[in-house]
Amino acid sequence: MLFLCLPFYLQAYSVIDYSFITKYEYGQMLYENPRGIGCNKCHGEKGEGKLIATYKGDKGNEKQLYGPKISNVTWEQFKHSLSQKENKSLFMPTYFLTNEELVSIHYYITNLKK
Ligand code: HEC
Repeated sequence: MLFLCLPFYLQAYSVIDYSFITKYEYGQMLYENPRGIGCNKCHGEKGEGKLIATYKGDKGNEKQLYGPKISNVTWEQFKHSLSQKENKSLFMPTYFLTNEELVSIHYYITNLKK
């Protein structure tokens, strides 16, 4: 009986079971698709920082908006920036990520091969 049920079990679980991918891969997946605009869009593929936009300032001078380098931020700093109450950024969207998801993303960006 157990034998017959097994294939169904495996099928049902394969959709949500992340145990087949590593913590690193899970972090990468979230970094690129964190239920919202991907972090890579503003911080670069490797968290190295990225020029997001250039625009004209008041005096017609060119200004630049950068997504800062984040591959070296400490866990405290990282958590602070991504917490919904403390993040008052004008540019960075607010995310609703769980602590476990934040741990994975932080692990990924700080362990990337340079
Ligand atoms: C729309 C662009 C944008 C996206 C998308 C974005 N950020 Fe940011 N992020 C910024 C900007 C700009 C700053 C600079 C500080 C500010 O303006 O708040 C920043 C700041 C940060 C900081 C603080 C860096 C420091 O030196 O203190 C961290 C950490 C961070 N972002 C992580 C992330 C993560 C993780 C994601 C994805 C879940 C993400 N960001 C998505 C634009 C973005």
